[in-house]
Amino acid sequence: AGSSQFSTVSVGASPVAEEMAVKEAPKEIFLKDYKPTGYHFDTVELKFVLSEKKTTVVSKIRVLPRNSSESPPLVLDGRDVKLLFVKINGEERKLEEVELTSRHLTLKSLPVQPFDLEIGSEIHPETNLSLEGLYKSSSGMFCTQCEAEGFRKITFYQDRPDVMAKFTTRIEADKAQCPVLLSNGNLIDSGDLESLTCCGQNGFHYAVWEDPFKKPCYLFALVAGQLTSRDDTFKTRSGRDVQLRIWTPAQDVPKTEHAMHALKLSMKWDEDVYGLEYDLDLFNIVAVPDFDMGAMENKSLNIFNSKLVLASAETATDVDYATILGVIGHEYFHNWTGNRVTCRDWFQLSLKEGLTVFRDQEFSSDMGSRPVKRIGDVALLRTAQFSEDAGPMAHPVRPHSYIKMDNFYTVTVYKKGAEVVRMYQTLLGKDGFRKGMDLYFERHDGQAVTCEDFFAAMRDANSANLSVFLRWYSQAGTPILTVSTAYDAAARSYTVKCKQEIPSTPGQPVKEPTLIPLAVGLLNSKGEDMVLTELFDGGSLKSLKDTAGGPAKTAVLLVDKEEQEFTFLNLPEKPVPSFLRNFSAPVRLVTPTVTDDDLLFLLAHDSDEFNRWEAGQTMGRKLMLDLIPKAQRNEQLAEFVAKALTLPGESELMDLMEVADPDAVHTVRKFVIRELASKLKQDFLKTVTENRSSDPHYTFDHKNKARRSLKNLALGYLCSLDEADTTELALKEYKSATNMTDQFAALSSLCQNPGDVRDEALANFYEQWKDETLVVNEWLVLQSMSDIPGNVKNMRRLLDHPSFDMKNPNKVYSLIGPFRRTAVNFHAKDGSGYEFLAEVTLQLDKMNPQVASRMISSLSRWKRFDEGRQSLAKAQLERIAKTDGLSENVFEIASKSLA
Ligand code: ARG
Ligand code: ZN
Repeated sequence: AGSSQFSTVSVGASPVAEEMAVKEAPKEIFLKDYKPTGYHFDTVELKFVLSEKKTTVVSKIRVLPRNSSESPPLVLDGRDVKLLFVKINGEERKLEEVELTSRHLTLKSLPVQPFDLEIGSEIHPETNLSLEGLYKSSSGMFCTQCEAEGFRKITFYQDRPDVMAKFTTRIEADKAQCPVLLSNGNLIDSGDLESLTCCGQNGFHYAVWEDPFKKPCYLFALVAGQLTSRDDTFKTRSGRDVQLRIWTPAQDVPKTEHAMHALKLSMKWDEDVYGLEYDLDLFNIVAVPDFDMGAMENKSLNIFNSKLVLASAETATDVDYATILGVIGHEYFHNWTGNRVTCRDWFQLSLKEGLTVFRDQEFSSDMGSRPVKRIGDVALLRTAQFSEDAGPMAHPVRPHSYIKMDNFYTVTVYKKGAEVVRMYQTLLGKDGFRKGMDLYFERHDGQAVTCEDFFAAMRDANSANLSVFLRWYSQAGTPILTVSTAYDAAARSYTVKCKQEIPSTPGQPVKEPTLIPLAVGLLNSKGEDMVLTELFDGGSLKSLKDTAGGPAKTAVLLVDKEEQEFTFLNLPEKPVPSFLRNFSAPVRLVTPTVTDDDLLFLLAHDSDEFNRWEAGQTMGRKLMLDLIPKAQRNEQLAEFVAKALTLPGESELMDLMEVADPDAVHTVRKFVIRELASKLKQDFLKTVTENRSSDPHYTFDHKNKARRSLKNLALGYLCSLDEADTTELALKEYKSATNMTDQFAALSSLCQNPGDVRDEALANFYEQWKDETLVVNEWLVLQSMSDIPGNVKNMRRLLDHPSFDMKNPNKVYSLIGPFRRTAVNFHAKDGSGYEFLAEVTLQLDKMNPQVASRMISSLSRWKRFDEGRQSLAKAQLERIAKTDGLSENVFEIASKSLA
């Protein structure tokens, strides 16, 4: 039962060979040049005849000219697609009459009335190693990835998010090879096909999917292959039953239990917290082993990197479980923030990503420990995002231009973007934020909108004056907020003086002050929060209340000028200040009047748990930075006294130095760890013993996670001593572990020290887990991030190890990714680390440019280092930049890094 809404590929058309097409040069695209299209696409009917060598795609589009008095050229995007035919209202256009380049198909002399455009094309999934468009995964299935600009690798289309259409998708494929055929929306027809003897296609079947919601093509998805599902249902709060299916190869179905649980929690949470209900009767998730990023929110057919779906106690750690929960939530939440309301253009990416990251962070906080989640998120922001913001690739949350959009799926757009959304909530309160969200959906459901639209909804729903807040979207760079204080005993007043400064970034030499919400608490000498009654903020006297109208313990100061003073009144004693509670803004805080005693006091007493942790971190940073000059002069470091447990990382410290010195930073950090371990050895030993589980059954809950992480942290410190008894203890923990969290932690502890024990443990672990890809990937991570001397040699060996495969992004992220964060090996003085990364990047660029450019971006901050390292790193960047046939992705990063 074929359906006649699709015509078959006409055999007579003479294909225009792709090689013959005019090559277009890469081009920078600017936000300020945005223009709406001259044509709307109303409905799109796609027909795929799948085969790995050659897949044909016929698309039939109902086109509505925007303006009925003229017909401008219709420019369609297309890459690596072979054009077979073009028909307008059923009439074939001679291919000599259309304009075809390596990137575009341009049609002219079009009707001014609505018309049908039909395009036949051909693609090659098997040789598509870029993993965008339609590709064949190593697991055998066909799979798509269209965000940002992958749909143009499937067929010719106006590939931009403001073109929204209703899609119907017909898939035909070999029944044995592809028993499961999936696309967006509802399955409306399926069945067997008569054998098409002309093409030798015996045993074909088909399925037709219809998505009732208008969507941009980046949300299109197709999956076909041998898949089995875990099935469940969810009853929405209005009483509809939704079918939930998680698809994997049959042997992995047992590992989808946690993901299914996470999905149901997500659906419930979005109803409870935002009143947002799922809008179709079916929700599919597919796990694929080859995927460039984490996961993708295609309408009703989310596609996930297997790593973010599959888990079992034996093979996944607590961190994996938590990550899966967050990402399942993230992609599900996109259904409203991303899909129902989408982006007008790709510059607005943070409109959906910043907002959805904020939502998944809040979801994870509600499901687990809120302060622990916040601390982890801020630590990542501070290392990865702050350093991006200080380098040559610094860009605003809403970039002004790009060459390749893939290069802007960054921590700035995602994580700083989430902080920007969080600031609305800090400024407007939880209820005010919810009102803003409600208005946003009321105004924009079904539309493709901008960051200003979101801002306006927040402002209007609260009649708020958010003054210069929009500058968070347009200015790059991390603001430096300096806060100093003075107590006036006679006046019983406490003055807080703020100064903000945003460093210049490429293309933005001068910055304007932005609106920084500074959350402040004041502690009395007993360590309790003082009640904040009145605040004088320059212009006016305000009385302070908390959001429920009760006494205020935290005040949010609105810092929106370069320099500004605030005065708290009625304070009976000099307080210890707790600034930037819960990290209320993504800034670098400088507090010249806060003493070490204040920090210790906050560490002990602050009611804001984030700031308790932060006080310890600030101490740790100060102490280590003080030691660095000594290490650089090769002096003894022995006077250091143990104060904090988990120390700030190497890259965070390097970022705080004038000239980053990887060797000194490494020496100091290792030294501090060993000092702590030897001073606290007995406590750490006790911590390990007391936090072992008596129950071999794995439970993923807060109590057990906390216990395991404390025990494993202590074990890590102990092993830094490299003593016989600590090694023996770790070996014992390794052998007796009943879950991956404990087993892997013990292995990591052992791997700190080079030698036979390390080598044997690594070999043993590999032998045990060599058939579990995701576990083997972690084994690669462990070796990649190692700071044992001369690790580049080991890295080169691992490139040839049977467990490594350059074509699979997870393998690359595991083996190459962490290496780039090692102070001593990536930044090795002889340049061997830089050379290794350049070689890998060039090799990778031929297969997967997106992944290649992610790898090379860590060379971009070469100017931060000493002259020797600078010239070594620069030489590698230049070598890359002048390589023939480089992708636009890598070209953009390499050239901007050298600029
Ligand atoms: N929208 C996806 C997310 O949820 C990211 C997909 C981007 N993929 C890519 N290849 N650029 O974050
Ligand atoms: Zn997302």
